Amino acid sequence: MSAINRACAPPAQNEFAGASRTLITGAAGFVGGHLTDRLLALGHEVLAVDNLVTGRREHVPPGVRFEEIDLGSSEEEDVIEVIRGFRPAYVVHLAAVHHIP
Ligand SMILES: NC(=O)c1ccc[n+]([C@@H]2O[C@H](COP(=O)([O-])OP(=O)(O)OC[C@H]3O[C@@H](n4cnc5c(N)ncnc54)[C@H](O)[C@@H]3O)[C@@H](O)[C@H]2O)c1
Repeated sequence: MSAINRACAPPAQNEFAGASRTLITGAAGFVGGHLTDRLLALGHEVLAVDNLVTGRREHVPPGVRFEEIDLGSSEEEDVIEVIRGFRPAYVVHLAAVHHIP
């Protein structure tokens, strides 16, 4: 079962239930926005990362920490610093340009 399917499973059988820190890349996108909502409902603290190339800031719920980072061009150390600062238990990587222009 994928991480997303596990996150969306009913709380009784959900290993993601309970407060934890989760970093979501592509959090301003379609899947990332919904996953952020779901994890917040499960009590997670979420760090949303997105470069807004296709995503929209308003897909990230108010109050969620948001970092506008381009994972394709940012300095590796800058990304590592954000991860170190947040210390996520989980990372869900959804950032992608999957539409053929
Ligand atoms: N939507 C679907 O039905 C579906 C189905 C199967 C798989 N997927 C996969 O799930 C993932 C997310 O899909 P989605 O529909 O939410 O896409 P989306 O385009 O809505 O979201 C992707 C997000 O990634 C961000 N992004 C792109 N490049 C980035 C970069 N370099 N750094 C930081 N952020 C960046 C975009 O701004 C956007 O917000 C993709 O890998 C997609 O292939 C989606």
